[in-house]
Amino acid sequence: MTELLEPRAIGRDLVRRDGADKVRGTAVYAYETPVERPAFCHPVQATIARGRVTRTDTTAAEALDGVLAVLTPATAERLASTEDAELAVLQSDEVAFRGQFVGVVVAETSETARRGADLVRVEYSEETHDVTLSPERDDLYAPEKVNPAFPTDTADGDADAALAAAPVTVRQTYTTAMYHNNPLEPHATTALWDGASLTLWDSTQGVHPARGAVSAVFGLDEERVRVICPYVGGGFGSKGVPHAHVVLTALAARAVPGRAVKLALTRQQMFSLAGYRTPTIQRVQLGADREGRLSAITHDVVEQTSRIKEFAEQTAVVSRHVYAAPHRRTTHRLAALDVPVPSWMRAPGECPGMFAPEVAMDELAAELGIDPIELRIRNEPGTDPESGKRFSSRRLVECLREGAERFGWAGRDPRPGAVREGDWLVGTGVASSIYPAMRQRSKAVIRFERGRYVARIGAADLGTGAWTVLPQITADALGVPSEDVDVLIGDTAHPLASVAGGSSGTSSWGSALVATARAFRDKFGADPDDGDEIDGSSGKNPETADYAMFAFGAQFVEARVHVDTGEIRAPRVLGVFDAGRIVNPRTARSQFLGGMTMGLSMALEENSLLDPRFGHVVNHDLAEYHVVVNADIGDVQAHWLDGADPHVNPMGSKGIGEIGIVGTAAAVSNAVFHATGVRVRDLPVTLDKLLDVLPGA
Ligand code: MOS
Repeated sequence: MTELLEPRAIGRDLVRRDGADKVRGTAVYAYETPVERPAFCHPVQATIARGRVTRTDTTAAEALDGVLAVLTPATAERLASTEDAELAVLQSDEVAFRGQFVGVVVAETSETARRGADLVRVEYSEETHDVTLSPERDDLYAPEKVNPAFPTDTADGDADAALAAAPVTVRQTYTTAMYHNNPLEPHATTALWDGASLTLWDSTQGVHPARGAVSAVFGLDEERVRVICPYVGGGFGSKGVPHAHVVLTALAARAVPGRAVKLALTRQQMFSLAGYRTPTIQRVQLGADREGRLSAITHDVVEQTSRIKEFAEQTAVVSRHVYAAPHRRTTHRLAALDVPVPSWMRAPGECPGMFAPEVAMDELAAELGIDPIELRIRNEPGTDPESGKRFSSRRLVECLREGAERFGWAGRDPRPGAVREGDWLVGTGVASSIYPAMRQRSKAVIRFERGRYVARIGAADLGTGAWTVLPQITADALGVPSEDVDVLIGDTAHPLASVAGGSSGTSSWGSALVATARAFRDKFGADPDDGDEIDGSSGKNPETADYAMFAFGAQFVEARVHVDTGEIRAPRVLGVFDAGRIVNPRTARSQFLGGMTMGLSMALEENSLLDPRFGHVVNHDLAEYHVVVNADIGDVQAHWLDGADPHVNPMGSKGIGEIGIVGTAAAVSNAVFHATGVRVRDLPVTLDKLLDVLPGA
């Protein structure tokens, strides 16, 4: 059994410990790291999507005053491992996607490096590229597994027979767009070699995972690589694994011995080199009786990966867990295209994967004339449909009910298009959310010095609040006020910690800190001596053998659609979450609000447009890749159910970084349907998809 902490500091609305430094501009980010005589590098990027570099002329770049080195595939040093093709930087002539690195210029200033990169002449032998995802492709394949290690396909019962026998069915195809993460701080690295040892100040979601990847590429013992990252200006998954620019910067630094080299990707470069969310094509079929009890769910997904490296988003996995239906089938098929490597983006899998089924559930509710909340409640499973295990806690129904109450759902006219206020059609929509509650291996050390407890762990704070909540957790485990505790993070010199990903950071690092604090108390008692110190760790949670662990949520959206222009507004977004005990309401609310805001952005604005002729994202900046801004947001509210999950970790928490985004886009589409009667199954929901059918003034 998990021994839960008595919450004293946990649950308090404490201010961010890093807040003042960030507001004052004194928090140092990767690119700003003060180093002596920094050099700067700028990449040369492929201007074709597939083919080979045949010739590179670096003469003009090398002649430029201030240029220190120019590296190409012909001159860059050979890496020890090219197993990860994304990180095999400048190791071959092959071009696998437009924007790939084909060179780098190192110079005294970033401006000179950029100018030098412009002067590098690259000739190619171009091959026909293929960047178009379609469910009709004859080369779709089933990956061996989907991320991180789920079965690619599952089948329980006979879904097709159950669908054929069902009195009511929904059979539709839904699509989600390609999306780019776009954290405010670009991907940035400062690299410095000292002989055969490398120090990287890198904007990353995990210093230890970054070290592991980079040391493998360069063939170094891990102790020879140090990664430091106290602050991150957002990542949303795109900094969860090191991308090619980290290796490029380290290669560049190797070419100028004794000098540190800096690189910050430009916003445009981030659209080729920092990962993205694959577009998805999702076929969903629901079969139900007239009371709305599901007999069958099928969820068949087509999505893309890159030709050089497989990334298999686990889009349909949600349909294995969310509703009770005896007959279930899920499949994933990939197209390997001449495109950049897809990667993690906030709730990879669950976020696009819940759009299709949650719109389908709304379609089923409309078909049956059953309230969409009631339909979901009728399909609430007693145990996890996939594993048969009990849920560690599952309060989705309470989220739906409390959300309905707070949002003012009662008395809603179910007929679409029934409510008009002036020139605006008004509708409301709801969707469920689910996200796994995970925990990973981490270690920590705690030392008592000068009357304070100092813990160290290689955790990361993406802006999420780790600097603040880890001392709260450690304090409760030690039984002291949180003011007496410091927790130092963001450095591989600290004990090994897992990535800030999968909403598992606080759960993983908190578990390690609690184990270490308890060991400290066991060994040194309540009155330790100065210098008393102990190591501790926490591994895989043994309770996963008996329990299925997920956070849940319900999002509610009010949409307003202008009868003439089709302009769509979402003045109200409200979510209620079952995420276990909330460690700090201030930072948690910010996570939930951020997740829902990002979901609204995905629903209404974001859309990476890949030009099939050239193979690049044409709207590759924030002027044309629209993310919602303050003016797009009205009243966004996050609420949560009080209480602790007794099985996930000693804090009783479940993870909050991603659940907020999961159902939001479906709730938006459902609200737009309720407002207008137009069912938009293809994200984003934009006015061109409504114009033909609007009534006009
Ligand atoms: Mo999050 S996409 O798991 O970093």
